[in-house]
Amino acid sequence: MLDGKRIILGISGGIAAYKAAILVRLLVKAGAEVRVVMTPFAKNFITPLTLSTLSKNSVLSEFYKADSGDWNSHVDLGLWADAFVIAPATANTMAKAAHAVADNLLITTYLSARCPVFFAPAMDLDMFRHPAVCHNIELLKSRGNHIIDAETGELASGLDGKGRMAEPETIVQTLSEFFNPKQTLNAKVLLTAGPTYEAIDPVRFIGNRSSGKMGYAIAEALAECGAHVTIVSGPVSVSVKNQKIKVIRVESAQEMFEASAKIFPNCDIAVFTAAVADYSPQFPANQKIKKSEQSLNLVLKKNPDIAAELGKLKSDTQISVGFALETENEIENAKSKISSKNFDFIVLNSLNDAGAGFGTDTNKVKIIDKHNTILDIELKSKQELAQDIVDVLCEHFNRQK
Ligand code: C5P
Repeated sequence: MLDGKRIILGISGGIAAYKAAILVRLLVKAGAEVRVVMTPFAKNFITPLTLSTLSKNSVLSEFYKADSGDWNSHVDLGLWADAFVIAPATANTMAKAAHAVADNLLITTYLSARCPVFFAPAMDLDMFRHPAVCHNIELLKSRGNHIIDAETGELASGLDGKGRMAEPETIVQTLSEFFNPKQTLNAKVLLTAGPTYEAIDPVRFIGNRSSGKMGYAIAEALAECGAHVTIVSGPVSVSVKNQKIKVIRVESAQEMFEASAKIFPNCDIAVFTAAVADYSPQFPANQKIKKSEQSLNLVLKKNPDIAAELGKLKSDTQISVGFALETENEIENAKSKISSKNFDFIVLNSLNDAGAGFGTDTNKVKIIDKHNTILDIELKSKQELAQDIVDVLCEHFNRQK
């Protein structure tokens, strides 16, 4: 999330400073290198020892080291950082930042910093809504500083209102979104997901173990980027979180094909994640089959290959993505599916990798495009993987537009 990012955390003297320890931990956990600068008053709320231990860097607070006389260079520090986060930002610190009152190391560092600066204000509700504070916040904003808005809730004074510092998780999330902006995808997407059930009689079916988790995670990630997503879904127990996603429920491959064929002509992108049964009983019984005979023969007929059939109708501007789960000659088989089903990309799952495939919460894949470029993605959660797949799609779709 923040891999390799150099972040200065400026802590000013408010009670919310106690949350700075958690903030440092989360920043370090997200991959950032953190250096802490405190105002002298902030040290009354949290010790430099706690923060230097967690950040693995000495904490700076004074202009120089009293014992050696060494100068703490605010200029070097300001130039080192990729981002400067001031959390908590008190009314006093924001006023000094807005008016260049450079009487402590945090403010001199702020004035020297060339990187983006984020203020996370924290104070009592009456202070927070005072016109002088509001004016200073507006001044800071108008100069390009980012404000991570305070939250509403119980305050240290015991009063209830707006002024609580944003939670450390929210601050890390804001930084992460700043450094990894979400792509936008203004597209209509058809996505098939889950297994199909092929009726043997009214109570029995042939099915498979697909959970639909990968498909649903991709649908969520697509919708997050702004895409209009319709899932044609076989029977699954997962459900959508984003209510903008439309779900059409089907059971059999034939039903999935018919529903998908209606949507396909108007979609920009089709993602075929469903584990469609290749065969179905040719003559499903109308009544429950009795167990009278010693053996039972089922005649199976081939189901439509949804991806291949729709691939034949695909226009030059439409993009389609397929999935392959192979046990041998993985890459060669996946590549041949790209051409036989007219995919632009195929996501290759390997059953040979622990943690990959059906039913698991993680997956390890290769994304292969029709020019045979292979992108290897390490084992990660299906949600994270969905985001990687959607990033590839966004890049391709937005470049093509
Ligand atoms: O041929 P295979 O089943 O390995 O191909 C997998 C890909 O084709 C997946 O994207 C799957 O959703 C799609 N498919 C389909 N209809 C079928 C079989 C597979 O859409 N009947």
